[in-house]
Amino acid sequence: MTKKTMSTEDYLTKVSEMKTSGEKPTKLTDADFFTVARERRSVRQYNPDFIISDEDIREILEIAIQAPSSSNIQPWRFCVIKDQKAKEELLPIANNQKQIVTASVVIAVLADIEGYKKADEIYGKLVSKGIMTEEIKETYVNTIVSHYGNLDSENAIKVAMTDGGLVSMQLMLAAKAKGFDTVAMGGFDENKFVEAFNVPKNLKPVMLISLGEGAVAGFEKVRLPLDSILTWNKF
Ligand SMILES: Cc1cc2nc3c(=O)[nH]c(=O)nc-3n(C[C@H](O)[C@H](O)[C@H](O)COP(=O)(O)O)c2cc1C
Repeated sequence: MTKKTMSTEDYLTKVSEMKTSGEKPTKLTDADFFTVARERRSVRQYNPDFIISDEDIREILEIAIQAPSSSNIQPWRFCVIKDQKAKEELLPIANNQKQIVTASVVIAVLADIEGYKKADEIYGKLVSKGIMTEEIKETYVNTIVSHYGNLDSENAIKVAMTDGGLVSMQLMLAAKAKGFDTVAMGGFDENKFVEAFNVPKNLKPVMLISLGEGAVAGFEKVRLPLDSILTWNKF
């Protein structure tokens, strides 16, 4: 007997219809980090009339990019999709998840597999600040370019995606700390997104993040018990 499954679109529609308390998301201001991390939930219902300012978006992104990255290459790139027309174009590409059009913006987080090409610019800043000598910088940059430039595509993507995940998490926490809500979305057609949004070949989509003023809190968190996923020292 075949086990019952559903289409991706139905699956994503169901998740947004899951029973929530119906209450508004907690609106945080000046919260400590532990509160922000506990209170962040995936919010799928937004106030469609709320417009987030570019200044708020920039502030959230400035905090997000303080995330660590492999060799400090910072391979993350962002596309802020805020025009309603562009969001409507994205809607079917993202399995008709309604937060695409109801949240103020959708931020596409992308990972640049050629991010190492900015190593000279990045490490040059350390020279300007007197943290590194020009000579060491040259050696460093050569090493980085040779290492990352020679990775096979699987590993290049793995490294860039890891950094892309870190910045995405930091973005969502920064948004929550500023009183906004988000939901990460992997449920979209990557190829169609790349084509419709003219994504350059070197950029790999990490995830889409809806950002706005949440209208209804996400459903209550369920997590595996820590002891079932924790091992000390060795497996
Ligand atoms: C990489 C990633 C992709 C996700 N994709 C979707 C998605 O396409 N649609 C959606 O509604 N939620 C998506 N989610 C949200 C998860 O369902 C959610 O994080 C999880 O249920 C835990 O709930 P919480 O975020 O409220 O703690 C995604 C989360 C992550 C991290």
